Amino acid sequence: MEKNTMAPEHSGAAFEGRASELLRRMTLAEKIGQLVQTHTREDIVGPDLDAQIAQGLVGSIFGISDVAEINRYQRLAVSASRLGIPLLVGNDVIHGFRTVFPIPLAESSSWDLPIIEKTARAAAEEASASGTDWIFAPMVDIARDPRWGRIAEGAGEDVFLGRAVAAARVRGFQASDLESGKRISACVKHYVAYGAAEAGREYNSADISERTLRDVYLPPFKAAFDAGAESLMSSFNEIAGVPSSANPHTLRAILRDEWGWHGVVLSDYEAIRELVVHGVASDLRDAARQAILAGVDMDMMSNAYADHLAGLVADGSVPESVLDEAVLRILRLKLELGLFERPFSDENLADRVILRADFQSLALQAAHESMVLLKNRHDILPLSTTGKRIALIGPLADNRADLLGCWTIFGQKDEVETVLEAVTAWLEDPGTLAYVAGCPIVGEGPDNIPPAVEAANDADVVVVVLGESAGMSGEAHSRAHLGLPGRQQELLDALAATGKPIVGVLLAGRPLVIPRMLEQVDALLVGWHSGVQTARALADILFGEVNPSGKLTASWPRSEGQIPIYYAHKNTGRPAQDEGTRQFDEPFKSRYLDESNEPLFPFGFGLSYTRFAYTDLEVETPLVGSDGTLTVGVTVRNTGAHAGDEIAQLYVHDLVGSVTRPVKELKGFQRITLAPGEEKRLRFEVPARELGFTGAGMRYVLEPGDFKVWIGPDSTRGLEGEFRIGIHVG
Ligand code: NOJ
Repeated sequence: MEKNTMAPEHSGAAFEGRASELLRRMTLAEKIGQLVQTHTREDIVGPDLDAQIAQGLVGSIFGISDVAEINRYQRLAVSASRLGIPLLVGNDVIHGFRTVFPIPLAESSSWDLPIIEKTARAAAEEASASGTDWIFAPMVDIARDPRWGRIAEGAGEDVFLGRAVAAARVRGFQASDLESGKRISACVKHYVAYGAAEAGREYNSADISERTLRDVYLPPFKAAFDAGAESLMSSFNEIAGVPSSANPHTLRAILRDEWGWHGVVLSDYEAIRELVVHGVASDLRDAARQAILAGVDMDMMSNAYADHLAGLVADGSVPESVLDEAVLRILRLKLELGLFERPFSDENLADRVILRADFQSLALQAAHESMVLLKNRHDILPLSTTGKRIALIGPLADNRADLLGCWTIFGQKDEVETVLEAVTAWLEDPGTLAYVAGCPIVGEGPDNIPPAVEAANDADVVVVVLGESAGMSGEAHSRAHLGLPGRQQELLDALAATGKPIVGVLLAGRPLVIPRMLEQVDALLVGWHSGVQTARALADILFGEVNPSGKLTASWPRSEGQIPIYYAHKNTGRPAQDEGTRQFDEPFKSRYLDESNEPLFPFGFGLSYTRFAYTDLEVETPLVGSDGTLTVGVTVRNTGAHAGDEIAQLYVHDLVGSVTRPVKELKGFQRITLAPGEEKRLRFEVPARELGFTGAGMRYVLEPGDFKVWIGPDSTRGLEGEFRIGIHVG
């Protein structure tokens, strides 16, 4: 038996050399083995996994977190197999491992890149201590359709913010100084345009233009690679008739030839097998051929590569050199992660690392910053902790599991506080609180709306906690109706009829369509599914210990008919002039007969318990060269009575392009803290190269011409200036 006895070396060139040397010693079967990823559950993959690993027929396993069991598999790989190549151990760690952080959509609402990086890093600490080498995240799909349940897993609708969040999460996951002494690779997903699923229906086709692909859906992937991401997951969907897991244009021409990226491409779960169902492959063999030729290196769960690559090489349908490239990429990743030197994980580390106290504080801070205040009539919030009788109503008020959110494989509901517990803990006299669920989250359920109304009538203020269960967002959880599920609106109608002041709290995995609720409540706080510290963070905000600071990263529609809805839309040839009007008022304009064009809440919107004033916008560089930098200054002042954080946002509009340009595009943001009465002068610097786009020739161009620029509190408000790009490049 031949063993891997190479000495540890740590330069890219050395990895290249070691990987090639290993490749030379591999049989065809061993090469194919490296391209196979499998689950470990016997009910899914059968009883032969040990034998397959021992024969070198498996390159990666996933869906496992028992360190002793992982080490056992790893021992089979490194000791029993002929070449001793270690396994890559993958897992879905979407928003935290055991310490569950806010769902990514919520966390992005913090616009706090250092916090976002830290939560990813904490997730990597826990995952690595539990034997994981490979995290199937971040999901960097731009999502402009809240019907799509996976909007919960990403950073929302915007390209600029999406790029920044993608890079921050990759840096966090791939931190080099984890307690385990090991390192994790981030698998960026889902490549590509998976979020453009038609009608927001999960797994549905996307039919976007090459320009939209390049200007909207690809940039977060590029940002992730620039931040060092070493792997990628190819998506389930098709674009314009070509399924992503058999798309040489995106997987080879763009990824390898244009971007020169050398990382590993892993298919999504059975995505290669599904090429047959898509109707582009005649059978699994044909699917394997198309996927490997298109550039998918590793097959997750299709058995297409394991069963058919040998035959395809034998009859010349797939050159062995194509396999060799894929194997080299996988070996290089294993070498870069140091798996050859340290294949095993410390079986005692997880106890020390999992649920570390600093992760809990981080989870609390992330939850605080994720929550978004959407309404606060007469400053009804914050509530007083004394002297008022509170009726706490709603199906999510005494709930643990749903607060964790979708995709929490390792989180445990017993570790979650309920809103009822967290609110009670704040009250000087818990006797002033009455709790009634009112109705279930979904379905009819027992009718306890009357007792809820009774509790409301006896109270000074009603806090109603409504929204979605964790299972209503995430993979395969699209919704066509985005209002409050079940009987929740009926419950709210009954509470509103009492005339009592109502504080609405929404816990959800996506933007909801809630115009009626907005009118019925005096305050509206979106708490999302913010992980293990959701309840405490909510209570801290409700009682004013923490001033809310989150801002929406996806528009909230007024009605499902407006979807897809996003602020960076095009002007059209017939834009309506006046906000909020309908087609009746402005005929033959791009308007609805029966609905306004504007969202209920725009991208970037969020209130605070204090107020911020923007003054003195100055464009310091009215003429910007193609290598230059746009510099704009603005003063932000806290004019209210509370200290608070503001997220100041810079947008531009390129007035005339060789192709049409969005009416506004985010190009900068700063999160700042201001004491009451304090002001800060902010300077935004935008490199001119950020202001280009995919031009008529499908190449990235920066064109000369006039721009508008705004700095303000959201995508609809701000002080306006102008500048000009002076020189043509492209
Ligand atoms: C399917 C999902 O689309 C993907 O995000 C996930 O990583 C894999 N399943 C593995 O669980």
